[in-house]
Amino acid sequence: LILRGAPAPFAAPAGCHALTVTEVQHYTDRLFRFRVTRPASFRFRSGEFVMIGLPNAERPVMRAYSIASPAWDDTLEFYSIKVTDGPLTEHLQQIREGDTLLMRQKATGTLVLDALRPGKRLWMLSTGTGIAPFASLIRDPETYERFDQVLLLHGCREVAELAYGAEITEATRHDPLVGELAHDRLRLVNSATREDYPVRRRITDLITSGDICDMLGVPPMAAEDDRVMICGSIAMLADCKAICLSAGLTEGANNRPAEFVVEKAFVD
Ligand code: A2P
Repeated sequence: LILRGAPAPFAAPAGCHALTVTEVQHYTDRLFRFRVTRPASFRFRSGEFVMIGLPNAERPVMRAYSIASPAWDDTLEFYSIKVTDGPLTEHLQQIREGDTLLMRQKATGTLVLDALRPGKRLWMLSTGTGIAPFASLIRDPETYERFDQVLLLHGCREVAELAYGAEITEATRHDPLVGELAHDRLRLVNSATREDYPVRRRITDLITSGDICDMLGVPPMAAEDDRVMICGSIAMLADCKAICLSAGLTEGANNRPAEFVVEKAFVD
């Protein structure tokens, strides 16, 4: 239930901002992105997530969403799956410009630059909507201050699901703020596993086979130079984590920076 052109039917619960939707774009019948106004007081680090919901109940359903826009941006972007009968996304997928969205005040998360020790290359491993935190991080100049190369891998089932990441990457390369930094140092590798596509293999397979090194012209992953951020399904996280561990990398956290960090992508 979304009431348009009227005040939110339920007051925003304590600790929640009520934000206005400014833009909605649908990519497929399963994926869309949207933008909302950003409260002046809201601070976050690129790569963090926040709880969002709709003002359609006294106790609204809130879900964790990675913020897909960079920390310097004056609006907030989110990238979402649409799930039939999903407690939140069933309604969220119907939002339009001018609607109200609820957002809790505190952002948090482990996919932040502070959780990684300095290194040469930053690998961003993502499947599905797991690309969202990286859409934020690739647009943050600090990412390029800390790393020489930023290697974004995105795996999806279908080609159409790669559009958002490809669009953001292209826009980043021509962005007035980070374009110059990102242009030659940000690389994107796309794979679509269930359709005809030049790269039709899981990103984990690209890494373990060593083929990714040939594709990108980089040495095999090692603890000295490589740092990794991982965001996808539970199974994908487990497989990518195993790859990092076998390469000798250790898992980091906000209070204990190390060589790789992991976060589950939002699923409804
Ligand atoms: P596949 O088509 O071979 O299952 P999902 O929608 O299931 O999360 O899948 C999104 C993408 O992630 C698909 O390309 C899928 O490949 C891939 N994928 C699923 N599980 C894993 C995994 N454990 N490791 C790497 N990629 C995975």
